[in-house]
Amino acid sequence: MRVGVKLLFVVSLAVAMAGCASDKAGSGDSSAPVVSGSGGGAKPFVFFSQANSGDPWRQVFDRETQAAADLHKEFTYEKQSADDDPNKQIGQIESALVKKPAVLLVSPATVAVQNAIEEAHKAGAFVVLLDRSVPGTGWDVYVGGDNHAIGVEAGKHMGEVLKGKGTVLMIQGIADAPPTKDRASGFMEAIRAFPGIKVIAGNNCDYQRVKAESYMENFLQSKTPFDAVYAHNDEMAIGALMAMKAANTPKKVVIGIDCCQKEVINMIKSGDMEATFSYPDPGPKGIEIAANAIAGQKPAAKKISLQTTMVTKANADQYLAAHPGLAN
Ligand code: FRU
Repeated sequence: MRVGVKLLFVVSLAVAMAGCASDKAGSGDSSAPVVSGSGGGAKPFVFFSQANSGDPWRQVFDRETQAAADLHKEFTYEKQSADDDPNKQIGQIESALVKKPAVLLVSPATVAVQNAIEEAHKAGAFVVLLDRSVPGTGWDVYVGGDNHAIGVEAGKHMGEVLKGKGTVLMIQGIADAPPTKDRASGFMEAIRAFPGIKVIAGNNCDYQRVKAESYMENFLQSKTPFDAVYAHNDEMAIGALMAMKAANTPKKVVIGIDCCQKEVINMIKSGDMEATFSYPDPGPKGIEIAANAIAGQKPAAKKISLQTTMVTKANADQYLAAHPGLAN
C-alpha cells in the first residue's frame, strides 16, 4: 500500500479545517478600485453563492471563506446557500445581480446554473467558480481540487489493496455535478490496469449520508457479492458503512473523499475505512482572487488546482496533527 501519496498540482493551499458555518459579513471603512458595479458608490460587493451549507465539508468551506473575507475591509461580502437546488441558486444569483456584485464566487449546485453564471459574467461581475465547474467560458476562473486525478489515485489504491481482484460498488454523487463525473472517470481509468476488478456503477446518492445508507440497505438485500465500496465522498462512505454494520456485513474495503471530519480519521484508524483523499476548501483562494480582481489584478490561469493528500491508517495521526481543526 502506498502511503501519503501527494498529488502535486499547480497551487497548494494550507487547509486548516474547522467546524461551523456562518453567513454574512460586514467590513470596515476604506474603499478600493472596483471591477464592476459597487452598488452606487458604496464599497465593492462580493457575493458568494454556495451550493449548500449542510454537509461537513461545506461547513468548513463556509467558515474558512468567511474568515478570509473578514480580513478584507475594502469590500463587503455576503453568502447565500442554495440547498443543492439549482433553481434556488439561479434565483439567488439573479437577485444578487441587482446589487451589481464586483465579484461572484459560486460553487454551482449542478451544471444547470450555467446560464445564471453567464448572465452575471455578462453583467460585469468577475466570476470565480469554486469546487464545481460549469461548461462554457462565461466565467473567469475555476478553483478546486482535481477530481479526475483524485479518482485515478483512488482507483490505483483500490486496485492495490484488492490485489487486482474483486468487485467494487461505486456510490455516486450528484449526477449533474462535474466532480461526480470526474471522480468516476478517473477511477475507471485507473481500474482498467486491473482486469480482475469489476466495478458496479451504483446509484447517485447525491453526496448524502442518509441516501447512501438506505441505498446500501437495499443493495445488501439484493445479495450481490462485492468486496469494496468507492464512495464519491466520505459522507456517503459513512452511510454505506452504517448500513453494513447494521446488517453485520463482513468487512469491505471502503474508500471515500473529503477528509474533513475527525469521524473519518477515526474510521480509518479503526480499520473500518481504508482511505480517503483530502479535498481542499477553495474558499480562501477564491477570496484572494476576488480581492486581487477588485484591485485590478486577474489570475493568469483559468484553472487553479488545489493539492490533495491520500490519508490511510499509516498517516491518519499525522494528518490530524497537521489539521487540528477538522470538523467532528
Ligand atoms: C459537499 C460535497 C463534498 C464533495 C463536493 C463535491 O457538498 O458533496 O462532499 O467533495 O461537494 O462537489
